[in-house]
Amino acid sequence: MSSLANKQILVGITGGIAAYKSAELVRRLQDRGATVRVAMTRAAQEFITPLTLQALSGHPVHTELLDPEAEAGMGHIELARWGDLIIVAPASADFIARLAQGQGDDLLSTICLARRSQLALAPAMNQAMYANQATQDNLALLAQRNIAVWGPASGAQACGDVGPGRMLEVDELVNLAERQFNSGALAGKHVVITAGPTREAIDPVRYISNHSSGKMGYALAAACAEAGAHTTLISGPTQLDCPPKCERVAVQSAEQMHRAALASLDNCDVFIASAAVADYRPATVEDQKIKKKADTDTMLLELVKNPDIIAAVAASPKRPFCVGFAAETQDVERYARGKLERKNLDLVIANDVSQAGIGFNSDENQVTLVDAQGSKTLEQLSKNQLARILVVDIAQRLN
Ligand code: C5P
Repeated sequence: MSSLANKQILVGITGGIAAYKSAELVRRLQDRGATVRVAMTRAAQEFITPLTLQALSGHPVHTELLDPEAEAGMGHIELARWGDLIIVAPASADFIARLAQGQGDDLLSTICLARRSQLALAPAMNQAMYANQATQDNLALLAQRNIAVWGPASGAQACGDVGPGRMLEVDELVNLAERQFNSGALAGKHVVITAGPTREAIDPVRYISNHSSGKMGYALAAACAEAGAHTTLISGPTQLDCPPKCERVAVQSAEQMHRAALASLDNCDVFIASAAVADYRPATVEDQKIKKKADTDTMLLELVKNPDIIAAVAASPKRPFCVGFAAETQDVERYARGKLERKNLDLVIANDVSQAGIGFNSDENQVTLVDAQGSKTLEQLSKNQLARILVVDIAQRLN
C-alpha cells in the first residue's frame, strides 16, 4: 500500500504554463489513496480553470481569501491545518519571492504561512528567472526554513529556452510525496504501542472502562510503520481499523494488556504506552449476571489495583526506550515529571485534558515533551500530524 493512502494533500497551483500538469498531479495522488484539495492563485486561473480541478479533486477549489461564502465552508486557517502535506506545483518565481518574504496577500500564501505541515515547492519558470540571484536567494532561504524544494528539471521550455526551470514530471513529484511519509527514520526498529481503553469485567455483561478513543496510539502506530518500524499495536477495544503494516494484538483488560506487553519485549526497541489503562479492576468477576436486589439501594464493588504496564516494562531486564503519556488537568509538567521519575521512563508526552478540543476522544492534541533534561511544548496539531513529529523526535533520541 502506498504511504499516501488516506493522507490529506493540499495542492497549491500558481501562475505558470506547467499548471496544466497539476491536473494530472491531483489524479496521480488520488490513485495512491490520497484525498486532495486544491487552492489556486488568480494567475493560475489564467492557465487552467478551477472547474477542471474541482471535477478532478471532487472538492470545491479554493481561490479567494476574502470570500465570506468560501470562508463559511472551509476557512483559510482550517484549510492550512487540513493538509498532511502541502505541495505548490507549479511554484512561480513570484510566489517563491512572496513566500520568502512571508507575505500573506492571497489565499495560497496565507495558507502557507498558517500551515502546520510540511510544505514542498515544485518550481517552474523560465531558465533566466530561475538563474536570477534573487530567485536563488529566495529558494536558499526557504530551504533553510525546512521547506522542501523539488526540482526543477532541466530541458526544453515552453518559451523556447533550454535550461533549468522545468517543473518535475508528475510521477517524480508523486514519488517525492510518498517519500515524505516514508522517512525510514525507524527502519529496522521494533516499536510496541499500547492504545485505547481497557475493560475491566464486573460480570459477564458489565464492565468498567473509560472514554479513550485510541486515536493517538493508532496515529502513532501508523506513523511508526510509515517510518519503517516493525510495529506491534496492543489495543484495547476501539472502533478503529488497524493501521497499514501494523500487527495488532487485541486485548480487553489491563491484565491481558500487561501480559501481551511483557511477551512483546524480545527485540523491542521502543515501547510507547498511550493506552488509558484502568487503574483498578473488580476484585472478583461474577460468573453470572449480578441481579438487582430488592431490599437495598446501594451496592459495593471492591476494586484492586491493576499492574502498571509501562512501569513493569521499564523495570524489565529487556528494557526498551520507554515513552509514557500523562493526561493531566492541572500542573501538567510537574505531574509528568513525577511520572517520568517514578516509572523510570525516558520520555513523557503530557497533555492537559481539561482543555476543550484536545486529548481524550478528539482529533487534535497539544502536548509537552518532558524528559530528564527539560521540556518542550509543541503546537496544537491533528493527532496524525503530531504522531509524525513525535516519531521523528523519538527516532532522534534513539540514535
Ligand atoms: O499513572 P498514569 O496512569 O497517569 O500514567 C500514565 C502512563 O502510564 C501512560 O503512558 C499509560 O499508558 C501508562 N499506564 C500503564 N499501566 C497502567 C497505568 C498507566 O502502562 N496500569
